[in-house]
Amino acid sequence: MATETGSGKTLEALYREDRTFPPSREFMSKANVRDPKIYERAKKDLEGFWAEQAKTLHWFEPFQKVLEWKPPYAKWFLGGQLNISYNCLDRHVKAGKGAKVAYFWEGEPGDTRTVTYEQLLSETQKAANALKELGVRKGDRVAIYMPMIPELPVAMLACARIGAPFTVVFGGFSAEALAGRITDSEAKVLITADGGYRKGNVVPLKKNSDDAVAQSKTIQKVLVVKRTKQEVPWTKGRDIWWDELVGVQKADCPAESLDSEHMLYLLYTSGTTAKPKGIVHTTAGYLAGVATTHSMIFDIKDDDVYWCAADIGWVTGHSYIVFAPLANGTTGVMYEGVPDYPDKDRWWAIIEKYKVSILYCAPTAIRTFMKWGAEYPQKHDMKTLRLLGSVGEPINPEAWLWYQEFIGGGRCPIVDTWWMTETGMILITPLPGITTLKPGSATFPFPGVEADVVDDDGKSVPLGGAGYLVITKPWPAMLRGIYKDEQRYRDTYWSRFPGRYFAGDGAKRDQDGYFWLLGRVDDVMKVSGHRISTTEVESSLVSHPTVAEAAVIGREDPITGQSIFAFVTLRGGNNGDESLSKELREHVVTKIGSIARPKTIMFTPELPKTRSGKIMRRLLRDIANGQALGDTTTLADATVVESIRTASASGKDD
Ligand code: PRX
Repeated sequence: MATETGSGKTLEALYREDRTFPPSREFMSKANVRDPKIYERAKKDLEGFWAEQAKTLHWFEPFQKVLEWKPPYAKWFLGGQLNISYNCLDRHVKAGKGAKVAYFWEGEPGDTRTVTYEQLLSETQKAANALKELGVRKGDRVAIYMPMIPELPVAMLACARIGAPFTVVFGGFSAEALAGRITDSEAKVLITADGGYRKGNVVPLKKNSDDAVAQSKTIQKVLVVKRTKQEVPWTKGRDIWWDELVGVQKADCPAESLDSEHMLYLLYTSGTTAKPKGIVHTTAGYLAGVATTHSMIFDIKDDDVYWCAADIGWVTGHSYIVFAPLANGTTGVMYEGVPDYPDKDRWWAIIEKYKVSILYCAPTAIRTFMKWGAEYPQKHDMKTLRLLGSVGEPINPEAWLWYQEFIGGGRCPIVDTWWMTETGMILITPLPGITTLKPGSATFPFPGVEADVVDDDGKSVPLGGAGYLVITKPWPAMLRGIYKDEQRYRDTYWSRFPGRYFAGDGAKRDQDGYFWLLGRVDDVMKVSGHRISTTEVESSLVSHPTVAEAAVIGREDPITGQSIFAFVTLRGGNNGDESLSKELREHVVTKIGSIARPKTIMFTPELPKTRSGKIMRRLLRDIANGQALGDTTTLADATVVESIRTASASGKDD
């Protein structure tokens, strides 16, 4: 089969990696999960397996039924009542662990804070009372647009405590992107900060927030944490300093008893249209799913210092910086800034300083570190590391091996974890005490997760073959829908292969049954692990007055996985130049955010189209990737390709 991946490669074209790494005897003997029978057990009794996990949580009312599966909707732990913030905080403090560190926090300029479970509980209760004072009630939505500071998890936990679903918007998104998310979620309150530090500069979060609130109709109050302390615009009556409101509250706000299926949060992610999807996650199944995977996959022990280096604005941060580690009572590290400030060894200095034992990050970061050179990690003592993780995009075997050798000192297992915003929790992953690793493979579905690789007709592809990844059984942290868009939920995930969850990824299984993820098969790009829709970038380009048409392609990139390559046709047959190219790139930044800035813009007099008028993306992908052109026989005007090929591309790395 020659199914095409998002990057234009055929699935068969991906090469094999033969080296294998069994777990060391030492690691195996102490691992949280040692018995491979766990897979069989979970397969035989999926509901029993998850019920056992869920029972380790604190319930105000026990659940009566484990699962109700009415495709495509699942409900988990029906009849149960609990609270996530109680599970993440009160329960540990009550058990005498209040003095344990929840987060070692480090700001980019070098300031630090140590937050214990007791302090986190106290701050969360105060923040919850503050939200109540602002009129937030159970079910009301709250938008959060913050830098990576401890008040961010506090804000999320405070919302969870009173049953107000929140939506965190990554601090790198523009005002316009924030406005769209506020409008869709109809958020009543926005929690933000004056600014955040990034690469030595201040990100103007309050200014962006003001612009966003001006474009949306629902926000009544803006709660502002003081972080960078510069002058910020202020709207009296609407804006309130966090210190002044939260600081004066009582540290006593009992956690609401919430139904298992109560909405915990909405997280917007890019799909194949210009409008981001509000992914809905609920309470009990989500928490059981993330806490279990976190404990088993990262082999969490009481004395670990665990660092997930993602941003909380993405699902990785929601699940594996905030909810799972706190539910498991883990000590975590949280860092505000970029890896090369003030120098390229910042991460390794953090690992040395806090004696980090587990590091979880993205392949893009690893490839960047490879480019910078091993001398940076080698300056630091990182012997405390015992396990490494990877997430967000396929990791190439070279990067895997470099990570293993230069960061893990050759002794740490690497868990390459496949999952999505929609899945809530990790679904395909090694278990480090059991699985023999193959560099570049995410290995096997987690116990209780059933995955398959199917062809265009939905038939399972035999071992050795490639196709589309599907998940065939419900799992507890799965999305419960797309906010206010049931049809899109059905169409996107459940109609391609009825009854099965269509992930949108290509995958291959080798002869040993290992899963190899091959990238997106739809019009979604993965740039530095960030998910960006080609259509979203196209529609922001065509909103510029000079642009008639645009087609955006993910071009292969050795560091960022993919980079954004835009073909642009101007109005009135005009030619573009370097200055317009720059203007268009900044235009996209204003519309979406800097993560979506096209790396390359190619002005072309026309775009290649089929006779029915569809843009031939495959051809454009070939051109962008400098590959030999595929079949052009369906092209309406064959000369178009030649003119594109001779057009010059402009724009370069930032
Ligand atoms: O293409 C897959 C890729 O990231 C997509 C999901 O993106 P997002 O919702 O932003 O969540 C990223 C973090 C969980 C998937 O469809 N992806 C994620 N992890 C891996 C991966 N691709 C290959 N290997 C992985 N480990």
